[in-house]
Amino acid sequence: MFNLILFGPPGSGKGTQSEKLVEKYGLIHLSTGNLLREEIANKTPLGLEAKKFMDQGQLVPDEVVIGMIDSSIEHHKEAPGFLFDGFPRTVAQAQALDKLLALKKSEIDVVLALEVGEEELVSRLLNRGKTSGRSDDSDEKVIRKRFSVYSNETSPVADYYKKAHKFKVIAGEGSVHEIFAALRQAIDVSMAS
Ligand code: AP5
Repeated sequence: MFNLILFGPPGSGKGTQSEKLVEKYGLIHLSTGNLLREEIANKTPLGLEAKKFMDQGQLVPDEVVIGMIDSSIEHHKEAPGFLFDGFPRTVAQAQALDKLLALKKSEIDVVLALEVGEEELVSRLLNRGKTSGRSDDSDEKVIRKRFSVYSNETSPVADYYKKAHKFKVIAGEGSVHEIFAALRQAIDVSMAS
């Protein structure tokens, strides 16, 4: 099994690059943001509860997202590996993920972190907000709140994987094609080691 985390702030290109990477490497794409938006679209109790947090740019409680990842991993028993996008976002989530993967006698192989400046991120998200219908993209205040949540609650996840020597930074500005090439190179090195 090969397991990869695509890490980075809101708007850094995780979703865009994930689509291309899962096609190239045959991994299962697990995006907690997408899973939560599906729950909202289906008006499930979990979705209605999660929406309150997402609309304010806050994190959904750990136990909710860990439960979703647990059932998704179980659902894909024969997976050649997973690409985690937008998860883990807290150290508690990272520790839970390690335990879930250990049960499968597996682990995270590499964490690739997309680095993009804040003003570029704001402009990408406001631009996407014009067409995405995502309530968390249309208000700059909510976008800035997502960044402060990222720096307070999610940045420590980077240290967690740095300590494990699994963390690599990838320049996230430039064309989608150039960034994809840099990610592929890092993945190929990690797969070969
Ligand atoms: P989530 O859905 O994970 O959103 P996010 O992290 O805020 O990330 P985005 O989807 O906004 O950005 P992205 O990095 O995927 O970039 P993208 O490729 O789309 O989370 C949403 C909410 O759900 C959270 O705020 C939280 O409430 C909740 N949540 C989710 N996971 C959770 C968890 N684990 N724990 C707790 N709560 C959780 O690109 C953005 C835009 O830029 C697009 O328009 C794209 O076309 C464009 N773009 C991409 N690449 C480039 C490029 N190279 N140049 C120019 N434009 C580009």
